[in-house]
Amino acid sequence: MKHFIDIAQLSRDEILSLIARANHFKVNQAYHAYRQCSLANLFYENSTRTRISFEMAANNLCMSVVNLNLEKSSESKGEVIEDAILNLAAMGIKFFVVRHHQAGIPQLLADTCGHVASIINAGDGTNAHPSQAMLDIMTILEKRTSLEKLKIAIVGNVSHSRVAHSFQYVSERLGVGELMLVAPVKWQPKTPYYGKVTDSLEEGLSNADVVMCLRVQRERLLDDEHLDLAIYRQDYAITKNTLSYAKPDAIVMHPGPMNRGVEIDSDIADGPQSVILEQVKNGVFMRMAILTSLIEA
Ligand code: NCD
Repeated sequence: MKHFIDIAQLSRDEILSLIARANHFKVNQAYHAYRQCSLANLFYENSTRTRISFEMAANNLCMSVVNLNLEKSSESKGEVIEDAILNLAAMGIKFFVVRHHQAGIPQLLADTCGHVASIINAGDGTNAHPSQAMLDIMTILEKRTSLEKLKIAIVGNVSHSRVAHSFQYVSERLGVGELMLVAPVKWQPKTPYYGKVTDSLEEGLSNADVVMCLRVQRERLLDDEHLDLAIYRQDYAITKNTLSYAKPDAIVMHPGPMNRGVEIDSDIADGPQSVILEQVKNGVFMRMAILTSLIEA
């Protein structure tokens, strides 16, 4: 693995080996030091969780980290980022964690700067968020052993969600038994890669083992894609009531940041079925696994 861009580029064995590596880091908290390796966080879109998670992962491995806050940067075109990477690479930085609002930028950078840099996709537009899918599946596998028998429901703005896109790929690769993509018609994917689309929360959640709730991403909606949030909440929020459609021991996930009281209620987010903070915790170990796999490649 030279870059980490998309789950679609990973084989089943590579995915399983990343999960094994992350679990190993979680269990054995003594880590090898990679002092000669440096990483730059290039975030052209706001993020706290993902950026800090990569930073913590790199710190645990004794790598040095440079954070560039580029959110307000006007220089967000592909060729300018390419130049920034070539300059930082000339200073000795090898690993670049990139988040960008435009789909395809990480792949473009891998194609143009791959001779001097290793690119890690931390979310590109509505396209992919592969490290999130990896930490999500790691978290599910901690709670459930056999993915073939599971019913997993993703609820929310599936068509705009890079989390849902990457999760479809990881589900296909690892053979998740049943994946339900639950969304109002306006937010349904036209051609889902994997899973069955429904607009019925009851059908989607019925007998589910895992309920993954997505954030309502107001910033990613086009004018004609906005929905009345009160109606959305009534039909799709994960509440005590709606969670009762799922299995009594179903686990509840959310990639964060949450809109409490919109797509999920606080008593569910903070309740006994929630593994949301476990996802955040596992994110650091999964990102350590990704970084070390790239370093050793
Ligand atoms: C997600 C993202 O940015 O794609 N969050 C995250 O990385 N933790 C999900 C979201 O924005 O809703």
